[in-house]
Formats: sequence, C-alpha cells, structure tokens
Amino acid sequence: MQKVMQKVRGKFGAEAAGDAPSTGASTSSSFVAEPAQTPPPETLDNGVDDRTISWDASKLDPALVTVHERYSPTAEQYRSLRARLLNMNPRHVHQTTIITSSVPQEGKSVTTINLGMVMAEGNERKVCLVDADFRRASIARMLRIPPSPGFADLIRGEAALADVLHPTHLPNLKVITAGSVSGKEYGELVGASVVRTILAELRERFDYSFIDTPPVNTVSDVSMLAPHCDGAIIVIEMRRTPEPSVQEAVRTLQTTNVKILGCLLSRYDDERGHYYERYYSYYYTSE
Ligand SMILES: Nc1ncnc2c1ncn2[C@@H]1O[C@H](COP(=O)(O)OP(=O)(O)OP(=O)(O)O)[C@@H](O)[C@H]1O
Ligand SMILES: [Mg+2]
Repeated sequence: MQKVMQKVRGKFGAEAAGDAPSTGASTSSSFVAEPAQTPPPETLDNGVDDRTISWDASKLDPALVTVHERYSPTAEQYRSLRARLLNMNPRHVHQTTIITSSVPQEGKSVTTINLGMVMAEGNERKVCLVDADFRRASIARMLRIPPSPGFADLIRGEAALADVLHPTHLPNLKVITAGSVSGKEYGELVGASVVRTILAELRERFDYSFIDTPPVNTVSDVSMLAPHCDGAIIVIEMRRTPEPSVQEAVRTLQTTNVKILGCLLSRYDDERGHYYERYYSYYYTSE
C-alpha cells in the first residue's frame, strides 16, 4: 500500500469545510413518503422539479454519517473532499464522477451518498446520484427510496429521465436508483450506446453527478462507463485492500483515459482510534 500511496500525495483537510446548513431532515414520518403536496412542485432552472420527501433518518443506513452525525469528524472529511473537488474545478464545469474501488465492499455506495449529501448542502449546486451497480444495487435500500424505475429502465427506454429522478429531502439532490434488472443484462446495460447520451444529459442538468459502480477488478462495467465520465474517485478500505489490487484498478482506469481525481481511504483510523474518511489527491508518477 505504501507504494501506491506514494503516488497518491496530497495535502489533506486544509480547506475550510464551509457552513453546513440544515438538511431539512425530519424524523416525523417514514422516508418512503408521498412527495410534498404544498406548495406544488416547481421546476428548477435545470428543468428538474423541486419536489422533496420527508424521511425517518433513523431508518437510513448507519454509515450515512452526513445524515446521522452531521458534524462528526467523518462528516467533516466528506466536506473536505467536497472542498478539494470544488477547488479542482474552479470554472464550475459540470462533472460526472465515478466512485469505484478495486474489490467489493470497500464503501463505494456509502461514499457516493455521503459525498452527494454534502455537495448538495446549502442548495448551491444541483446534484444527482446514480446507482450504476446493477449487480449489487444498494442506494435505494440505503436511502429507502423505491428501487425502480431507475437507470436500467432509462437505458432500456422504458422510462423517461424525469421519471427516474427520485426526490430526496433536498430539492437540489436527486437519485437515480439502479432500476429493474435481470441477471443476464448487466453487461449489456452499461455497454449500451445510450448510456453516453444519458450521462451527457445529466452533465447538462446537474453540477455534479456521482456514479456508484461495481469494483474495477471484478467486472468490466467501470471500463465501459468511465470513458463517458469526467473523473473517478477510488475508494480504498484501510488495512484490508491489498496494494496489488489497488495498482490493478489504477492501471485499468488509466486505460479508459478517465481522470483519476483521488483516492479516499475508508475507515481510516487515526492514532486515537477514531475512524473517518481521508482523501488524497492523485498524482500519477511513472516510476
Ligand atoms: N466508513 C464506514 N464506516 C463504517 N461502515 C461503513 C463505512 N463505509 C461503509 N460501511 C459499511 O460497509 C458495508 C459496505 O459499504 P458499501 O455498501 O458502501 O460498500 P461498496 O463498496 O459499495 O460494496 P459493494 O462492492 O458490495 O457495492 C455497508 O454495510 C456499510 O454500511
Ligand atoms: Mg455498492
């Protein structure tokens, strides 16, 4: 891991985390709720409606620290990551970013949601989360959003974009769940030519779209998605992921020419035994 991290250098946490305005989260009703009825939905300037839903935060996945412990050190690390990404994009170009890892269960989906939440805080940016991991779809479950219609239905042309943009508790944060998928079509779906058009459409409408994907080393899905995206973040689980696995993932991503924006060490623990996430900018060196 040391060798990989030599290539992953960066000053961490120097940026101001910024204000953390209210998420508007409510614990008064179930998350799977009717869209707010009053006032009637309006259209945001990206053509997407501003509906929100209320939720019971206690039912959401405990690893969603940006919901459960909004001012914890871990939540602040996501705000540091947000600051890094914003600083890397001074001209505010709309971005579609893949969140991936080398092997399963390193925290990709949790990272996608937590990062999306902090990026949407303050209603300054329009953010979309996409579950493109058809094999182990989890965003709908973690956020208790109806699993379909979703990305798969959109790719097959069985749903329109407006139908698959599920509202959240924030008007500027939308979620595209994986949708209805049958085992045989996993590869076909991500490889469909319309995926490029869909991602371009998301880029037009949203400032930041974060795409949750399967691990790079196990299936070729990421290699098919990456060329249509602007950047990739690699999640590495501290002390579990073998270094050669990370190296292999980096090599594979490099063949797609996607820009590797950085690595996030998940479940990083400091000397006091506190767990949090830690982000490193990625600078590739050829040695
Ligand atoms: N930082 C964290 N602290 C504690 N638990 C975490 C953290 N990140 C993820 N988890 C937990 O680890 C499990 C795996 O996380 P997650 O589903 O995000 O990983 P993944 O990489 O998306 O997995 P898969 O490869 O199956 O899609 C989940 O049960 C999640 O709640
Ligand atoms: Mg996942």
